[in-house]
Amino acid sequence: MCCPRDVHDVDFTVERFALCHEREEAITMYSYTGKTALITGASSGFGEAFAHILAARGMNLVLVARSEEKLRALAQALSEQHGIRADVVPADLCREGAAQEVYRRTQELGVPVDLLVNNAGVGTYGHFDTLAPEREHGEIMLNVTALVDLTHAFLPAMAERKDGGVINVSSIAAFQPLPYQAVYGASKAFVVSFSLALWDEYRKLGVRVVALCPGPTATKFFTILGADELPMMGRMHTPEAVVMTGLRALEQERPYAVEGRRNAFGAQITHMSPLALTARVFARVMRPPKQEAMPGGERSAISLASRSRQ
Ligand SMILES: NC(=O)c1ccc[n+]([C@@H]2O[C@H](COP(=O)([O-])OP(=O)(O)OC[C@H]3O[C@@H](n4cnc5c(N)ncnc54)[C@H](OP(=O)(O)O)[C@@H]3O)[C@@H](O)[C@H]2O)c1
Repeated sequence: MCCPRDVHDVDFTVERFALCHEREEAITMYSYTGKTALITGASSGFGEAFAHILAARGMNLVLVARSEEKLRALAQALSEQHGIRADVVPADLCREGAAQEVYRRTQELGVPVDLLVNNAGVGTYGHFDTLAPEREHGEIMLNVTALVDLTHAFLPAMAERKDGGVINVSSIAAFQPLPYQAVYGASKAFVVSFSLALWDEYRKLGVRVVALCPGPTATKFFTILGADELPMMGRMHTPEAVVMTGLRALEQERPYAVEGRRNAFGAQITHMSPLALTARVFARVMRPPKQEAMPGGERSAISLASRSRQ
């Protein structure tokens, strides 16, 4: 008999079998109070929601993003409201060596990081050849390189203490090739693969690693992407619901979690389908819409991308 499982989360069959088997032995709840979480991308969206929810659970925080003023205001509000310690480490994680600099700052602050939330991330959208190479390079630096570097920096001490957690924010974009978001989809597939590998390597050493895979969620992500709406976005989730799903997975020592029943079902189906077929289906779905000229004669990247093919 399998252990109870949240229907919002999806697991592949072999993994489900292995997990259910193990979970019958024990589910260790995760204790938050008095520990410290470092959250990247804490100035908005999921990162800000993580900060609110973890502070309410008694965690001290290290908040990381570029917007220093926003982080300082959030740190002050949360420490007043919950009586926790909240430090701010401003950083541009697209820069080479930024993660090491963040680690050095936490050492100076004398803060041991118990939970690392690798959340900061950006996307790009449009025909690959029309997207600025430096923007896509920055996307890889942030979504992949900084995430790996931060994990390298903070995980060894967790393993030594035999206690720790890493939540890597991926996406349902991880489960299939994603035409017109090729780099974004590949970066998020990397995060799932990387996280699952570490989940198995380190669970015996008391470190829980989770890949959190949200679907479309109401944050600034799509505005920054340059598209307020993507085709087939469906119902938007709230950042708080996504964070709660991630924390449940952490508590239950699960390797990954997909937010929302529909997203979970979609991830399962696409994962089981032939890759080339999935790429073709998603190419149809994701094709950038035709857009009118923007004021001042400019056209958005999406508009240029779609027009250049018509
Ligand atoms: N929203 C969705 O529908 C959705 C779905 C699936 C996955 N995701 C993933 O969720 C994560 C968080 O996104 P979100 O939806 O919360 O979007 P968001 O509201 O735009 O937040 C992005 C965060 O990343 C930070 N950030 C961006 N560039 C950075 C840089 N170079 N260095 C340091 N921090 C940087 C931003 O802060 P600053 O600008 O202050 O630096 C901000 O705090 C991303 O990894 C994204 O891929 C989002």
